[in-house]
Amino acid sequence: MKNTLIAPSVLSADFANLQRDIEMINNSEADWFHIDIMDGVFVPNISFGMPVLDAIARHAKKTLDVHLMIVEPDRYIKTFAELGATNLSVHFEACTHLHRTLQAIKAEGMKAGIAINPHTNVNLLEDVINDTDLVCMMSVNPGFGGQSFIENTYKKVRQLKEIITRNGANTLIEIDGGVSDKNAAKLAEAGADVLVAGNFVFKSDNPTDTIASLKKIASV
Ligand code: DX5
Ligand code: ZN
Repeated sequence: MKNTLIAPSVLSADFANLQRDIEMINNSEADWFHIDIMDGVFVPNISFGMPVLDAIARHAKKTLDVHLMIVEPDRYIKTFAELGATNLSVHFEACTHLHRTLQAIKAEGMKAGIAINPHTNVNLLEDVINDTDLVCMMSVNPGFGGQSFIENTYKKVRQLKEIITRNGANTLIEIDGGVSDKNAAKLAEAGADVLVAGNFVFKSDNPTDTIASLKKIASV
């Protein structure tokens, strides 16, 4: 049986009770913390920045999976390493010299991730797949939690899995946006290794149980 990783998205947490929600994730079956950084330029929303990540990092006891939805991410690679990011994903669409950016992330001791928007074809990753630890495949247009899952994602997961296998890479496939009990099993079957879930976890009556059930559903 496959151990699909679950990464609750802190964007959907209650920011007035952030420590409580972080402890909930610590004590749950969740594998990673997914942290969304938005700059209001690359995406039409601003989430939170360095001081909040610093506060999260002081309490979080699991992998910090940081998803940068910002222009010019190279400017902040060192800062995110110092803040304690384990994984750092930059957007394909925001990087002119993506190969160099991936090396810079790894040089700071982090795992290097590429996030791709729904319109970005996975074949564009072929020449950097062996340099990439993680592909964060957006299954909604980035910027907001609580949006509907885009069905075309299943096809993209299968195509990306084929590219990874063909190149002998060990890149993880992470799905971000609109993940729920309705699509988790099908995504895992298609080849997804990590499922991000924001609203589905935090808007449920019992987030701890929801994380456990998502983990079970996705471990196909
Ligand atoms: C969207 C973010 C996602 C978001 C997922 O731009 O990258 O990580 O928090 O939230 P849900 O699961 O509610 O779609
Ligand atoms: Zn995200």
